[in-house]
Amino acid sequence: MARLVAHACGAASSGFALAGGLVGQWRSRAMVSLENLTVSYRHHPALHHITGCFAPGSLTAVVGPNGSGKSTLLKSIMGLLPLAGGQLTVSQSARRVAYLPQVAEIERNFPINVRDCVCLGCWPLKRAWGGIDGQQLQRVDAALQEVGLQGFEHRPISSLSGGQLQRVLFARLLVQNADLILLDEPFSSIDSKTTAALLRIIAGWHEKKRTVMVVLHDDAQVRQYFPQTLLLARELVAWGPTHQVMTQANLATARAMAEAWDDNAELCDVDAVMPPRLEVLPHTALHRHGA
Ligand SMILES: Nc1ncnc2c1ncn2[C@@H]1O[C@H](COP(=O)(O)OP(=O)(O)O)[C@@H](O)[C@H]1O
Ligand SMILES: [Mg+2]
Repeated sequence: MARLVAHACGAASSGFALAGGLVGQWRSRAMVSLENLTVSYRHHPALHHITGCFAPGSLTAVVGPNGSGKSTLLKSIMGLLPLAGGQLTVSQSARRVAYLPQVAEIERNFPINVRDCVCLGCWPLKRAWGGIDGQQLQRVDAALQEVGLQGFEHRPISSLSGGQLQRVLFARLLVQNADLILLDEPFSSIDSKTTAALLRIIAGWHEKKRTVMVVLHDDAQVRQYFPQTLLLARELVAWGPTHQVMTQANLATARAMAEAWDDNAELCDVDAVMPPRLEVLPHTALHRHGA
């Protein structure tokens, strides 16, 4: 049985390709490394046999058809889901990790105003019972200004439009000042002006060498703004520099894999048969459940 193999720590800036002998070095340098990662819901795999890494300072688009495991990957990195197999390692240099879930998972009716919501970004930096000091409040105000929401401080978040709420959540991320930032579909159902403003903030994080991964659906956005791309279809289809990943052939492969999904597939024991290895793009040999 052929299986999907994996690949490349994708620091586009350094542009190096990896071979099997560099695996140890590659993993030790990674901000997040995945090794034969499998995650399942009630024993049905949502993500499996993923091997590769996110280099420190990389800006990666995570793409794939609906149901391809993108949100599952981000939640796994956040430690919100148990792993069914393999390994997931987050570097100790990621002292602070920030996560923005999909809009559908955000509680919009929580009784909190804009300023207090952004202040929540300070809490990971505080000790228990510590208050927010003047310097932090200044950072909150600066973040609100950066996202264009000065004057909205006392508005309840339930009264905001989708775009305004997303600006608030980005202000909170700015205050959080994390080393590793995970965003799940941050631009879904928001206007183009807000999207452009938030893309500038993401570009700013990239300039500051933060490691950022963003789940996206807009291919043009991916090609224009994201140096690295990870293309999923529950398995890894391709991972590396965006121009190498976002090819018609890879996208067609991902669609074909999505059409062939068996939602009731059981976990496989391929790990026991074939150890993970590394290859350079593109992937042509696909391991299929139920095949
Ligand atoms: N809480 C859950 N319980 C059971 N199945 C789930 C759950 N969350 C996601 N799934 C399934 O896992 C697969 C991957 O989901 P997800 O990671 O949300 O995909 P994506 O974000 O790429 O759309 C889908 O088949 C989805 O139905
Ligand atoms: Mg999702």
